[in-house]
Amino acid sequence: MIRPPKVLFATSEMYPFSKTGGLGDVMGALPLTMHRQGIETAVVTPFYGRLATGGINLRLVTENCHVGYPWPPITAEIYMADYYGMQVFFIGRSEYFDRRLYYNTHHGDYFDNCERYTFFCRAVLELALWFGEAPVVLHSNDWQTALLPALIHFRRGWDNFWRNTRTAMTIHNLAFQGRFSSRLFESCGLPRDAWNMDGVEYYGDFNMLKGGIAYADAVTAVSPSYSREILTPEFGCGLEGILNKRARDGRLFGILNGADYDVWDPAEDKYLPANYSLENLEGKAICKKTLIHHFFMSDQLEDRPILGFIGRLRQQKGIDMLIDILPRLMEKEIGVMVLGEGNLEFEAKLWEMMEEYQGRLSVHVGYTEDLAHLIQAASDIFLMPSRYEPCGLTQMYALRFGAPPVATARGGLIDTIIPYPDPQATGFMFPDSEPELFYESICEALEVWEDREYWSNMVRRAMSQNFTWSSSAQKYIAMYQDLGAEL
Ligand code: ADP
Ligand code: GLC
Repeated sequence: MIRPPKVLFATSEMYPFSKTGGLGDVMGALPLTMHRQGIETAVVTPFYGRLATGGINLRLVTENCHVGYPWPPITAEIYMADYYGMQVFFIGRSEYFDRRLYYNTHHGDYFDNCERYTFFCRAVLELALWFGEAPVVLHSNDWQTALLPALIHFRRGWDNFWRNTRTAMTIHNLAFQGRFSSRLFESCGLPRDAWNMDGVEYYGDFNMLKGGIAYADAVTAVSPSYSREILTPEFGCGLEGILNKRARDGRLFGILNGADYDVWDPAEDKYLPANYSLENLEGKAICKKTLIHHFFMSDQLEDRPILGFIGRLRQQKGIDMLIDILPRLMEKEIGVMVLGEGNLEFEAKLWEMMEEYQGRLSVHVGYTEDLAHLIQAASDIFLMPSRYEPCGLTQMYALRFGAPPVATARGGLIDTIIPYPDPQATGFMFPDSEPELFYESICEALEVWEDREYWSNMVRRAMSQNFTWSSSAQKYIAMYQDLGAEL
């Protein structure tokens, strides 16, 4: 039996089924939290070839969902899963989604990304028709699903089915906009009226995220600080104009992400060799020892701080700044562990440095969920020198795992870390993306680390931080209600 959802989240990734970063984590937690708060919620996401089912059964609902894109209609398969009582729908079409990586290869984005996600969005509309009832709220996330608010905006004018649906558009990362040739606009299903500077047109190109921002009933960014930063030319990625317009209309909100402590809690983490908690931290030392042995790091590090970095090896994450200061850092009695993948040049540089600083610098290139957990647990200090950070989840996990972060004062990092020397400090923060400032901030953290008693209190404060999804979910629900959604 399929239940028509009141809130339908559309997303290009959802943990545990698919994930390349924080969006996957958010979609694995927020909808379910809302569902548990008593609102019938569902998620719709692509059926990728390498879907991790996590032992959950997927059921084929139909092989014949006709999607009017491109013309003539082609078919999508729809699968569904019961995810802890919440329905998750998967849109399948192997030529689009059966690929090892979701969005790109090492050589760049897939040439047909516009077609793939337009197809996905159009299939979401068909899915809703097939429910027989339109969702009260359709919530899109990032550019891949940003066409939906625009499609619904124009449909509401002539299609009663969609008349009462409210749309929300969440920006997880403004730098990725889904910008394509104007040629592709013609077949996406939007009317000509959408092609203007207040709509999807952007310097002569078709900009999907801009369309979502322009036509959604509410636009949200994933932290209050980021929702302010994106109004400036420095962080607005060229969309600050339309974002300011939405802000003036009172339609732009900043709602902080939560951390999913069902997945990220050292007291119960299934990936760790030993668990630990505020009451008993012994397991953290065992995790550290395991990491040291597994990665052939020097035994002496057991009594010295290990600095961890987990993230996409991209400029956004400031990995270049870490590379820049590593030679100086390595003069100190510390260990550094890096997990990430991305830019090939950064990967090569890190490998090269690992040779040079054998035993104290360990680099793991790849995307490895279990290792991410172990590094969080084994680290004493977590490095997050992001140039911008819409929210950032890894620093929230680091806090819970007792690894005070050293982070740039940007976006969600500002909203989640209390910087030293505040008496309530949970981490360290530097004001600008300068390697020198990053270096000084790490030096400060290392100095504080030497004061073992102070440090232990700081670790305890960090571990006591609680970024629950339930308070974020309530904020989204209140926002939907303000839009007139009857939930
Ligand atoms: P972003 O979404 O910008 O990449 P977030 O901090 O919001 O940053 O979320 C990143 C998520 O991806 C976290 O769950 C983190 O553990 C995970 N992650 C990032 N890089 C890797 C990697 N190389 N291997 C495993 N997990 C990773
Ligand atoms: C994006 C952002 C990150 C955020 C995540 C989830 O990937 O880069 O800061 O935490 O989305 O919202």
